[in-house]
Amino acid sequence: MCGIVGIAGCKPVADRLVSALAQLEYRGYDSAGIATLDHGEIQRRRAPGKLVNLANKLTLDPLAGTIGIGHTRWATHGAPTELNAHPHATPRVAVVHNGIIENYRSLLVELAADGYLPLTQTDSEVVAMMATRWMDLGLSPVAAVQATVSKLQGAFALVFLFHGEEQMLVAARQGSPLAVGYGDGEMFLGSDALALSLFTDKVTYLEEGDWAVVTPGQAAIRSREGSNVNRVVHQTNASSNIVEKGPYRHFMLKEIHEQPDAVSRVVGRFVDRGARTLAVQDPLSFDFADLTRMTVSACGTAYLAGVVGKYWFERYARLPVDIDVGSEFRYRQPPLAPEGLALFISQSGETADTLAALRYCAANGQHIASVVNVEESTIARESKSVFPLRCGPEIGVASTKAFTTQLTTLACLSVVAGRARGVLDSDKVEELVTALETLPGAIANALLAEDEIAEIARSISKASDALFLGRGPLYPIALEGALKLKEISYIHAEGYAAGELKHGPIALVDETIPVIVIAPSDELSEKTVSNMQEVAARGGRIVLVTDPKGAEMHGGIAQQCIVLPEVHPFVAPIVAAIAVQLLAYHTAAHLGADVDQPRNLAKSVTVE
Ligand code: F6R
Repeated sequence: MCGIVGIAGCKPVADRLVSALAQLEYRGYDSAGIATLDHGEIQRRRAPGKLVNLANKLTLDPLAGTIGIGHTRWATHGAPTELNAHPHATPRVAVVHNGIIENYRSLLVELAADGYLPLTQTDSEVVAMMATRWMDLGLSPVAAVQATVSKLQGAFALVFLFHGEEQMLVAARQGSPLAVGYGDGEMFLGSDALALSLFTDKVTYLEEGDWAVVTPGQAAIRSREGSNVNRVVHQTNASSNIVEKGPYRHFMLKEIHEQPDAVSRVVGRFVDRGARTLAVQDPLSFDFADLTRMTVSACGTAYLAGVVGKYWFERYARLPVDIDVGSEFRYRQPPLAPEGLALFISQSGETADTLAALRYCAANGQHIASVVNVEESTIARESKSVFPLRCGPEIGVASTKAFTTQLTTLACLSVVAGRARGVLDSDKVEELVTALETLPGAIANALLAEDEIAEIARSISKASDALFLGRGPLYPIALEGALKLKEISYIHAEGYAAGELKHGPIALVDETIPVIVIAPSDELSEKTVSNMQEVAARGGRIVLVTDPKGAEMHGGIAQQCIVLPEVHPFVAPIVAAIAVQLLAYHTAAHLGADVDQPRNLAKSVTVE
């Protein structure tokens, strides 16, 4: 993870580096730092914790200079202290790094033999030390970077600043994203287009193995082998993506409330209202009718969207689906079926494990498709078919609107697939289309339950553990409810398939543990209610998430009820997601937690 930025400019850079880092704080907020050249000398300011600490430090102790680099850190190696904060520097070179240098220990041993000793606990410092050693041996800065990078194993995006080189930054990319921005007499480097959006909307993405010599007038990009290469310059719309909280207390709450619109836009892109059917807008790189199997890989909340998708694709398209988290999938070496579709789900489009899974599937002859929010991301660029979420930037670290738009996209695609495979007749398609069309309104109505949910959240905030139960496609929503609650409120929570409760976790049940049962009325709700009875019989404290029919029939068993609008069971998981999001949000907000930037987390996970 970590966010990096560089400016080779003609105006003071310190404040602008900090502003760009503010756009990158979603990637990590354990510490931040910048380095500039002042009369050719490398000067640094670094601070542990959030960017505001660095900004305060710079107010008291500013940095001059028209060239500089900056970093916001998500700690991998070494505690989040000032000492371990980037940029790492020697008197000759300063460097910012995103990624992990896997062979840093053996490199440190080599450096120690030559008398170069580390000052920090990080893997990244070795990069500055190696470049320094090469320069001490007489290599030019550019040659020193080349020699250094050729020895590094792992994933990295790097930007180097050199003593006495007022006009030059050198950047390198392998496995972690890095973009070059083109300004007016100035050039920029950043982890993504959003970081550069304050300065320019003309951006080039470095490709694997690329490195670049960046001066205020130009970027000379070379391939790993050293030959000059031309990379496409994209016109981005990232500047329109700079967002404010508005009247909301947190970005997460704002994003929860954006869901009726965000979901409506997804449905609108798929539904052919005249023909009462669903279709994809762009031609597909595969034919759903010919597929033998679908393999889905993703991480965290995006993975849980995929688990719901599995229920839909298997039921409505009779397409067998395998799903696994990226970090397991990538090393499992699973055999993949001929004519298989590999589908990757990712808000950021940069998640390292999901990307590695994609590359495995591409190398093994699968059709590659992705469901992403950031359309310029690596996962999108490496996919043959892309289904964009277009829900706008998601700033809260806990995913909300990306999740429901992922779900809606998968729901629509499952109907498209069901039609193409001859599983769904036109009446059934029309029924499902109607269900999808009611979804934005149902989500808006679900949001009206916010005050009651906030009240229930008050009692949940007193618990130290919670259980979430669901069945069928509501089971992954139980998992998501538990994930959301633990990541932002730090209350330990587990999600279970309701039928699994009696195979172990029921031993946990007592009057101190809230058990949140997700059971809108559908063909399986009676079964889930039986499991709820088992909890009630053991004194468990039940919060039932249901619809008016379910509340009337079973509300009496529960201590508290969250009543959502009645919808077609097909789309019920998407409406239920709103309830678990609000429950987690209000619990965390009530506890005074840092909802948008929970401890230890980052929005974009570009390390494995
Ligand atoms: C949880 C959350 C994470 C992400 C996961 C994947 O609220 O946001 O679990 O879903 O890190 O991220 P993307 O979707 O960017 O691949």
